Amino acid sequence: MKPAMIEVQHVCKTFRQFRAVWDLSFSCAAGDIFGFVGPNGAGKTTTMRMMATLLDPDYGDIKIDGVSVLDEPEEIRRVIGYMPDYIGVYEGVEIREYLEFFAAAYRIVPDKRKKLVDEIMEITDLTSVEKKDVSTLSKGMRQRLCLAKTLVHDPKVLILDEPAAGLDPRARIELRLLLKELQKLGKTIIISSHILTELSDMCNSVGIIERGIMLKAGRIDDILAERTGGQLNQQKLFLKVLGSPDDAVTIMRGLPDIGGVEIDRGLITFTFMQPIESNPGLLRELLNRNVQVVTMAPATQNLEDIFLNVTKGIIA
Ligand SMILES: Nc1ncnc2c1ncn2[C@@H]1O[C@H](COP(=O)(O)OP(=O)(O)O)[C@@H](O)[C@H]1O
Ligand SMILES: [Mg+2]
Repeated sequence: MKPAMIEVQHVCKTFRQFRAVWDLSFSCAAGDIFGFVGPNGAGKTTTMRMMATLLDPDYGDIKIDGVSVLDEPEEIRRVIGYMPDYIGVYEGVEIREYLEFFAAAYRIVPDKRKKLVDEIMEITDLTSVEKKDVSTLSKGMRQRLCLAKTLVHDPKVLILDEPAAGLDPRARIELRLLLKELQKLGKTIIISSHILTELSDMCNSVGIIERGIMLKAGRIDDILAERTGGQLNQQKLFLKVLGSPDDAVTIMRGLPDIGGVEIDRGLITFTFMQPIESNPGLLRELLNRNVQVVTMAPATQNLEDIFLNVTKGIIA
């Protein structure tokens, strides 16, 4: 088990009477890309601002690399790079100048500045446009520039608030590759979104927040294993049969403990409301009824299934 790089401990934040974040606890392991997902107003930005020491929790604490946001905010700012959900850029400044300005602001000495900015532009794929005025950039380029800016002081942890919002598919793929690249460099990344599919192919762990409360958090692999490992009395399975699946579907719809029978690309998918121990009995039943089963296996559940399971349909 890798050590936790970010530990959110029972954090509460209210604005007047309104509970924006309530008893929120979760952790991100070192080297993770953690997707922080929830609808607009769920409390993501509030949480991230508290991580970035821009807002104090009313209760609880957040530790990043073992450092408390309450006790040592200055130290936290050295450890993290924060990219807010809205970023203004200046007119009449070229990409290189913009990054060198921030490098200077972080007191990187002039000798090292150029090399550092070269490296950062290389990683973020901005080298070829270094002379471009920052106010004329496409949305995708602008997001990469803002990410580049957060890298200037070489933070261990990146806190990125909705960086994929409004990106076209290509820019999103580029962002994903860039995050993977940063992960390889040893960074721990927390990235928020109100759109699950924006994140599902970027992260290895996830936290789903709704109305200030964490509904589910953990490594995606663990969450999927937990849901398909027979721990629950409900399984999502698929069935492949010889010939047309239509007759099999009719038979299955008549069986107890089976729901949601559907044909998806020639395969029958369904929910079996019994633990895994009951699968041989189900198979026997199907064969007895002359359903020519070739394969019965767990339907691979993805992040979307988890999402639907834990959010009870409140989040679209
Ligand atoms: N400064 C503030 N004053 C009052 N209410 C706020 C403030 N900041 C956030 N909120 C409220 O807290 C809730 C959570 O907001 P936010 O953290 O921005 O959610 P998200 O980023 O998930 O969309 C929202 O209902 C928002 O209106
Ligand atoms: Mg937000």
